[in-house]
Amino acid sequence: MTDTMKALLIGRGPEWVLDDVPVPTPGPGEVLIRNHASATNNADLPMLAEADPTRGGTGKEAIAGFEYAGEIAAVGQDAGDWQAGDPVMGTFPASFAAYIVADHRFVLPRPKDLAPQVACALPTALLTEFGALTAAGFQPGQSVLITGASTGIGMIGIQVAKTLGASKIIATTRSTDKKNLLTELGADTVILTAKDDDLTQAVLAATGGDGVNAVLDHVAGDTFAACLPATALDGHVVNIGRLAGPTSTIDLDALSYRHLTVHGVSFGFSRGWETVPILQALRAEVLPAVARGDIAPVIDTTLSVTQHREAAEKLRSGNTIGKTVLTFA
Ligand SMILES: NC(=O)c1ccc[n+]([C@@H]2O[C@H](COP(=O)([O-])OP(=O)(O)OC[C@H]3O[C@@H](n4cnc5c(N)ncnc54)[C@H](OP(=O)(O)O)[C@@H]3O)[C@@H](O)[C@H]2O)c1
Repeated sequence: MTDTMKALLIGRGPEWVLDDVPVPTPGPGEVLIRNHASATNNADLPMLAEADPTRGGTGKEAIAGFEYAGEIAAVGQDAGDWQAGDPVMGTFPASFAAYIVADHRFVLPRPKDLAPQVACALPTALLTEFGALTAAGFQPGQSVLITGASTGIGMIGIQVAKTLGASKIIATTRSTDKKNLLTELGADTVILTAKDDDLTQAVLAATGGDGVNAVLDHVAGDTFAACLPATALDGHVVNIGRLAGPTSTIDLDALSYRHLTVHGVSFGFSRGWETVPILQALRAEVLPAVARGDIAPVIDTTLSVTQHREAAEKLRSGNTIGKTVLTFA
């Protein structure tokens, strides 16, 4: 193994910088992963901006990225049952690098027939969408509304809800041309949230007036408010993303009279007590469907890590359908 590796760094300017850095060493409870491919996430952009010293950022250098797929290269002390050569994937900081050190509890097995270039686009979405359904107390036979369902993670949400036995999946998009894709992924009803559409009424109409049992909201803003009266009695509304802005004016009558529970989720790495049990349940309840090919990411573009500027532009554009993948040859 070489002493240095390629990595994309934040903290030097407005863009990622590809440089050679030392290969990390796994400590107790950690594994070293040889990374073949990483996928970008929306969260990569604020991280880049917050560290940019040319625009008032911290200037703190760090390796960017949150998800990867490859195989175990070395195992630290007390790092579970992992063995060198095991195919893996996962969501962990400092993933835009040829080698990654990760807490072994956050690593997921990669189904052996799933190529790293595909697998790397799954872990964040699987954790987030399955975690959100878990927060909602989702049970087979319940109905789910997924707002912003054409987002990279929302499209996985549809497939996870289907795998777990949702009776009805209602998906929203602003784009007519994404309707068929969402149907193919498993949505039973697709609502086009063009300006004049009434999301609440459309969901109530699709559920016989009852509303859905669980909402996975990636949009927030007015959309979040419209979800509350579209949720069934004793239902759960989980905010995951805030694409339309972080503020929302809600009708507390809808909340109280429907006996709703609202959750906010952000599955971080510093909250192992919350995330590790979700990953364990995910292995049992969802990964078999990934191995069968019933759950697959939608990938917009695959680029070499040397094309990182193009990847950042794609992320900034918001025009991609699905994930952008960076390969580490
Ligand atoms: N809570 C967590 O742990 C967690 C984890 C990962 C991501 N997230 C958040 O989840 C959200 C989705 O992330 P992603 O990377 O999967 O997104 P993405 O793939 O970049 O989603 C892009 C799509 O979002 C839709 N969209 C964009 N702006 C919108 C707006 N103002 N209103 C409604 N729809 C809008 C558009 O679809 P249409 O054209 O079809 O409308 C667009 O094509 C982000 O807010 C992200 O920060 C949260």
